[in-house]
Parts: sequence; C-alpha cells; structure tokens
Amino acid sequence: MSDLEALKKEAALRAVALVQSGMRVGLGTGSTAKYAIEELGRKLASGELSGIVGVATSEASDSLARQVGVPVEPFDPRPLDLAIDGADEIDPDLNLIKGLGGALLREKLTEVQARRFVVIADHTKLVTRLGEKAPLPVEITRFGFLSTIERLRAQGLGGRLRQPGAQPYVTDNGNYIFDAQLPEHFEAAELERQLKGTLGVVETGFFLGMAERAFVAAPDGVREVV
Ligand code: 5RP
Repeated sequence: MSDLEALKKEAALRAVALVQSGMRVGLGTGSTAKYAIEELGRKLASGELSGIVGVATSEASDSLARQVGVPVEPFDPRPLDLAIDGADEIDPDLNLIKGLGGALLREKLTEVQARRFVVIADHTKLVTRLGEKAPLPVEITRFGFLSTIERLRAQGLGGRLRQPGAQPYVTDNGNYIFDAQLPEHFEAAELERQLKGTLGVVETGFFLGMAERAFVAAPDGVREVV
C-alpha cells in the first residue's frame, strides 16, 4: 500500500470509529470512502458492530458494501445517523468540492439528509480556497448538453466535458459532467445559486456548509478539522 493510500485508510478508520451499532450510515464514493466501507464490513464480521444499515451514494459503493457484508437499503426520506465520504477539496471553513468520482448528485442527496456528515481525506485535499487544485464538477443532462455548456461558458466558466475515452463519462443517473475551471475570484454560494439556475444543470460539486468535521490524514498524524 502506498503512503497516500495508508493515509486515506487512517482517515477512514477515524470516521468509522464514530459508527455505533444500529446506525443508518451514508456510504460515500471514491478511493478513500472505499476504506470506510471495508472497515464497516470488517467490524460487522468481527461483531464489533451490529445492525448497521448502509445507504450508498453510487452503484460502485453499493456493490462494494454488499461484497464486504454491509447490508444496503435504497435511499429514502428517512434521516441518516452519519454519512462518511471523501472530498476533492476542503477549504478552511469545511466547504468542499466533490464529484471527481462522478457521484456528486447522490452524494449531496444522501449527505444533506445525514445528522452528521464527516469527511475523510489525505492532506493533499486541503486548500486555502475552493478551485485551487480541482475543477468544479457540474452534472448536466445529456439532452442538450452542448447548449448547456454554451450557457456555462457564457457565464465565464472554462472547462470541458468529462470524457475519459471515446465517449463522455455517464453518471449513475444517466447524465454527463462538465468539469468547470473556476475563476480566480468568485463567491461560492452565489456561483452555486447561479449554476443551479442554469437550464440543463442538474447539480454542482459545491458542498457548502454541509460537513460537520473532516479527518485529514498527513504523515505526522490525523488532524480533525471542525
Ligand atoms: C466522488 C467524490 C469523492 O468523494 C471524491 O472524488 C474523493 O475521492 P477520492 O477519495 O478517491 O480522492 O466526490 O464523487
């Protein structure tokens, strides 16, 4: 396991320590969240935890959870006790950019419904301002996507349609993602409002004021950001 993977796992284990038997837990998506799901499976198998129900934020996490023995229920309107997920950027106020893994819509739906949303990450995800390192993933409908991208560009957003190969990336919801380059100066809440009001935009990767805390692992230990 590389040093960075070891850090991701360390952060994940700290968050899973908050899980108690009987909780409904939001299961994040990505390479860091994977360690949390595996740890939940391990604790269920060893009897350290019982009666956990997971609600997955992606098809991939749903299938991993089942594989490691975490019972999964479909998303419904009941609150979750705790959600644990990674992030692409974390600013000093615990605002996040998420969605490089493509699961932003289900993540936001799930995490907004959690009594506690805890972020797990390695130290490379800490930034002084959002957009410093990562693009802002914007989920857009497939129908009319070129027109939607034109509307986004007209608002001064650079970036590109996510297209890892010959075809665009398709989310679990059947949509595309535009990875927007953020301008140097912007107000996140205002930009979020503006993007959500843009025809063809389904959701953005801004997770503002949602996280309760973050466990951020660095070579000198795990730091808790609250
Ligand atoms: C998926 C996400 C992930 O949480 C985010 O991309 C972080 O992933 P990783 O832990 O692999 O760096 O938002 O949509």
